[in-house]
Amino acid sequence: MGRVVIIGSGLAGLSCAHALAERGISSWLVSPQRSERAASVLAEGGINAALDVMGEGDTWQQHFEDTMSAGRWLADARSVAGLCHGAPDVVRSLIGLGVPFQTEGGSLVQRPFGGQRKKRTTFVGSSTGKMLVTALVDAVRRHEAAGLVERLAHHELVQLAIDGGACRGAWVRDVRTGELSGLMGPVVLASGSYGGLFGPRTTGSATNTGDVAAIALAQGVELANLEFIQYHPTTIPISGKRLLVSEAARGEGGRLFVTRDGERWYFMEELYPELGNLMPRDVVSREEVRQLADPANDGHIYLDMTGLSQAVWESRLHDLRDELIRYVGADPATTPVEVEPGIHYCMGGILVDEGHATNVAGLFAAGECACAYHGANRLGGNSLLGAIYGGARAAASVVELDLDGFADVSGDAPGDGFSRGSADAEVALDAEIAEAAFSALGVVRDEATLEQGVKTIEDVAGRAGTARTRRRAQLALASLGCALGRRESRGAHTRSDYPETLDDYRRTSVVRLSQGKLAYELRAIASSVDDVSLDEWEVRA
Ligand code: FUM
Repeated sequence: MGRVVIIGSGLAGLSCAHALAERGISSWLVSPQRSERAASVLAEGGINAALDVMGEGDTWQQHFEDTMSAGRWLADARSVAGLCHGAPDVVRSLIGLGVPFQTEGGSLVQRPFGGQRKKRTTFVGSSTGKMLVTALVDAVRRHEAAGLVERLAHHELVQLAIDGGACRGAWVRDVRTGELSGLMGPVVLASGSYGGLFGPRTTGSATNTGDVAAIALAQGVELANLEFIQYHPTTIPISGKRLLVSEAARGEGGRLFVTRDGERWYFMEELYPELGNLMPRDVVSREEVRQLADPANDGHIYLDMTGLSQAVWESRLHDLRDELIRYVGADPATTPVEVEPGIHYCMGGILVDEGHATNVAGLFAAGECACAYHGANRLGGNSLLGAIYGGARAAASVVELDLDGFADVSGDAPGDGFSRGSADAEVALDAEIAEAAFSALGVVRDEATLEQGVKTIEDVAGRAGTARTRRRAQLALASLGCALGRRESRGAHTRSDYPETLDDYRRTSVVRLSQGKLAYELRAIASSVDDVSLDEWEVRA
């Protein structure tokens, strides 16, 4: 019986391996680092599911509406319906795996989170990602012991084995010895974000430079919506990255202010009375940029958490408080913390359908490397959900394939174009790509800065001595190309030269490599809310 090749061992990869093993299907779990170092552990605030434990009459249909609305109606509605309908079962199965979600008086509790009209974010203090990874690592370890999962830690993807338009497996390299291995089977890419492409400006792992997505792009796989980069409104620059101040801080009562005429002005509460500090992230980050530029203000944004009760600090946000004391040197319980928008999440990535299949047969993608659920702006609390649900959903698609058909395909070993090259030579050029991509793809963009970014990155690509750097440059260029092509403002993509949201652009930006060049297309969304009957899912249940 063949094995499935999973590239990436964060939450999406773990969830996929677990779901396959539960069906008796074996997999290789391939990653350069251990699961415990995956960016999933950095997720803080929680995971969404309409369990209605707070007695507010929450339903999965309202979760669907909040997700679609935060994503500015750009996500594939059928995929989102599956996600929101499946969310309660995801949380129940995590409880079954031993995740110690917060309870009060013995009952599960949920907290408010950005862009949501109901309290539906289940959490473990402010370390939810860490606890979910721990639970899934334990679950997968049991399958490892049973021989159903084989871990290839310290291995990286070198090349997909694509033959006759179908993916037959993957070539991977041991990063310590350089040894290459060909793994034959359907492939699930679960490699996380490309936020590291922007260097130390991300709350995620700066080592997530999108190399797997860049390899996929170079081999003809379609990527989509790369212009939508989420800036989290409350981040703090620290050495080598950005520290996330979880949205949970605002969910529990934290308030943003600027100082104007010597007085604190809690601008979100006055300007957006509907959800105040908990407006969707694109709205909050854009408003912060506006307030920072306003000469009437003092040029600093602060998060005021001094009104939070001792009980909230102790039971719900103690990790966040410890972290802030350690990194900022001030106690947020008594001193407001200066924050600014920082790169947090990539809504776009490898384009997948409702079953997480890519445009190449036998190749799937899940988690943050995939473009599936988030449209133009992700709802807080949907990333952990998307990773776990998406990994399991990809597994459900893979089991439909004839796995034995992959068993004896060997394919050719990668050629020179996939050689590793010198890491030292790459560092300086990576920094140039990061600087250019960040300058061009800020919270607010325009044609001139995007064109300047393209020029700089093309120049870097021309000087690159390694295939890896050229591919990174190509991925960055694809993001800028998507941003140039979207001549409107929508969600996390704000163009000062095209400020309106236009119906004609309610389409997916698709990019692929065609005859050596990046080719762009604005494609009709696979299914919009008008095509989807939510009652269908009730019947399926
Ligand atoms: O703010 C946060 O805790 C982030 C959560 C998320 O991105 O879903």
